[in-house]
This record gives sequence, C-alpha cells and structure tokens, in this order.
Amino acid sequence: MITNQSIPLYRDGRHYDALNSDLLADIPFYVEEARRAAALNAPYRRERGKVGHQVLELACGTGRLTIPIAQSGVDITGLDLSPSMLAHARTKAEQAGVEISFVEGDCRAFELRRRFALIFMAFNSMQHLHDHASLTNLFSSVRKHLSPGGQFIFDVFNPKISILARSPEERRPEREYEDPEGKGTIVLEHTIHYDDASQVSRIKWYFSRRGPNGLEPDFRVEDLHMRCFFPQELDLLVRSQGFEIVDKFGNFERKPFASGEPKQLVVSRLRK
Ligand SMILES: C[S@@+](CC[C@H](N)C(=O)[O-])C[C@H]1O[C@@H](n2cnc3c(N)ncnc32)[C@H](O)[C@@H]1O
Repeated sequence: MITNQSIPLYRDGRHYDALNSDLLADIPFYVEEARRAAALNAPYRRERGKVGHQVLELACGTGRLTIPIAQSGVDITGLDLSPSMLAHARTKAEQAGVEISFVEGDCRAFELRRRFALIFMAFNSMQHLHDHASLTNLFSSVRKHLSPGGQFIFDVFNPKISILARSPEERRPEREYEDPEGKGTIVLEHTIHYDDASQVSRIKWYFSRRGPNGLEPDFRVEDLHMRCFFPQELDLLVRSQGFEIVDKFGNFERKPFASGEPKQLVVSRLRK
C-alpha cells in the first residue's frame, strides 16, 4: 500500500546537508549524464515546441544534485516525498539563483503529464522501497514519464555480507558534524539489524550532541530501513520491468561493476 508518509530522518534538510557535506563523488557523474540527456533531447524538444522538462530526479531531497545540474544549464524537475526536504531545496535553489521545479510526490505514484529524457534516482534512494509492489509501481511511473530513448539511472549499494552479519547490539561510530543549529558537534552512531527474510537492513541512528555543557547523549534516535538488492536480483528486477541495462558501474568513475565494488550504478532504458 502506498502511504504518503515521509521518513522521520528526512524531516530536517539542514541536518541532512550537514551530515552529507562530504558526499561529492556522485555529482560529476549525474551532471554529465544530465547534460548528455539534455543535448540528445534538444531536437525532440525543438520538434515539439520545447515541451516538458529534460531531466527528472526522483527522491531529490535537498537538491544536493538537482541544483548543480540546474547550474550546468539543464532544465530539471525534482520530486520528493518530504515537504521539509523540499522546502530546504527551494531555499537553496533560490540562493543559488537557479529555477527548478520541485514537486512533492511519491516516486511510486506521480503524474507530471510530461516526459523526460533522463529520470534518475540517486544515493540509494530506491532502497527506501521495500516490497515488490512498490518497485513495480516505481518502474511503471518511470515508464510513463520517459521520452523515446530516454534513460533511467539509479544507484544502490552493493550489499556487503560482513556488514549485514553484524550483531544488532554492535554500536558503531558513523561520523561527526557541526550542528546546523549552532549548538555544538553532533556525534552520530548506528546499529544494523539485517532481516534476511525481507532483505531489509534496519538501521538505527543515534544522535548525540557535544556542546558547551558536555555530552547530550542520544537526544534523537531515528530508524532508517533500507532494502538490500543483491546484484543478480537487481538486474533481473530491471529486466522484468521492461528495461534493458545499458551499463552497470561499480563506482562513479564508471568502473564496470565487479566483485567488491561499493555501488551498483545502473544505466537503463526501455526495451524496444
Ligand atoms: C538518501 S536521500 C537522497 C536525497 C538526494 N537524492 C541526494 O542524493 O542527496 C533519500 C530521499 O528519498 C526521499 N524518499 C523516500 N521515499 C520516497 C518516495 N516513496 N517517494 C519520493 N521520495 C522518497 C526522502 O524524502 C529523501 O529525501
């Protein structure tokens, strides 16, 4: 069942951005793909009198990728479930002086009444969809919004057995970042409980704060449930949804996917 409920971890875009401030490796890849799609799409747009947007990012969050893509001159729309992430994205886009259409919606059920040369879903966002019905709905929505020859690109992590096998009791440091509210340093830790029936990693994030008055432990605890996609299963899923895999990379430098690679970065298009 589709419920329009955003994930609590994504209720504050400022924390999301502070937490992910060093996440830069995927930006050149997605900018390049967006520019390529926009260039290929130019004749189609001319023919139709410039209808529709060129690129759509699903689960765009705070615009971490949407904004640099717009800055590179590409016409882009971002869709996300979380109103607060989108509000932060809009503020940042305005500050950056770029025009982006940000839409609140669920990637499993949206209707934008236009088609895109490229649809992408970055930074493991597809792993928020846990069951087959959700995935089928996602692919079906993507199909409806792709222009002829358009591509669907997404990245998810390559599940690492040693991480999934960890004891749920084992609390590990994640990272530290400056509290965007100016109250000190946030110390983030996590535990993982992998459910091998659903293939969902139940991650718990523990936020503590080190401020002028010492440590404020676990002032916030959030759940993040991430579906794992095993490599062969993922390829089958994509093909079963009427897509063909054009490329599968293991990182954002376009290294072909192989054993031990951290990512599964899939470039796909509708099968003819
Ligand atoms: C890991 S963040 C990625 C954000 C952004 N793409 C980035 O790379 O920084 C995942 C995003 O997925 C969004 N999300 C989760 N489930 C969604 C759904 N069913 N439809 C649309 N967005 C969803 C969350 O609100 C969150 O902003």
